[in-house]
Amino acid sequence: MIIFLFGCLCFILTCSPHDPNKETVSMTTIELPEPERSGEISIEESLQQRRSVREYASTPLSLAEIGQLAWSAQGITDPARGFRTAPSAGATFPMELYFLISGTEDVADGVYRYRPGNHVLEQVIDGDRRQDLQSVALHQESITASPIVLVITGVLSRIEPRYRDRAMRYMYMEAGHVAQNTYLQSVPLNIGTVVIGAFSDDGVSDVLQLDDGEYPLYIMPIGKLR
Ligand SMILES: Cc1cc2nc3c(=O)[nH]c(=O)nc-3n(C[C@H](O)[C@H](O)[C@H](O)COP(=O)(O)O)c2cc1C
Repeated sequence: MIIFLFGCLCFILTCSPHDPNKETVSMTTIELPEPERSGEISIEESLQQRRSVREYASTPLSLAEIGQLAWSAQGITDPARGFRTAPSAGATFPMELYFLISGTEDVADGVYRYRPGNHVLEQVIDGDRRQDLQSVALHQESITASPIVLVITGVLSRIEPRYRDRAMRYMYMEAGHVAQNTYLQSVPLNIGTVVIGAFSDDGVSDVLQLDDGEYPLYIMPIGKLR
């Protein structure tokens, strides 16, 4: 009987939805506050004011601010079809968002993946990894100057069956949409950000423990304006 129960336990553990390439410390899931869908600043004002910012106040971001940025980047705006704030080639949705979070109240420092379907963050790596990320991105100081760093990645296998040799370029295009949404949303939040394209692909993949076939596309340090 004991052997049978032990066998069942082993079976359950090996079948649990666990990504073997992620050092999932304790798969914490954080529910994000409902995003705002209207605001005081017009799209024209956001476009006018958007600027790349590389220095930030030391103030941490709130969970509501992180959630708002995540929603602007990849939030679901048509639940029936799963369509999002950013366009996606053939609605294949290859983008993933990772937030390196430090100093946010009630959130352990770590790397979190955004799940648009239920608007939550899932912890995938424990601890503050900003320094590791900076060292594989030409030591750009904006990465450790910011309390939050967003990394946009693309999963090629979601888009390649349909678009073949155009798939990779479509992923880069899509990352541009996601990044611009984030830039524009940062303006009414009084937040600064910058897109970083200068990094080692393998280095970022190692830091985030990405699966084969998932490509880092952009790094975006994010912090309150000084
Ligand atoms: C594809 C791409 C890659 C970029 N890479 C970096 C980068 O590695 N580091 C950085 O500080 N800024 C980077 N930038 C931001 C540009 O330097 C910035 O957009 C430019 O100076 C114009 O400033 P603005 O965004 O305030 O209009 C990048 C921008 C693009 C579009």
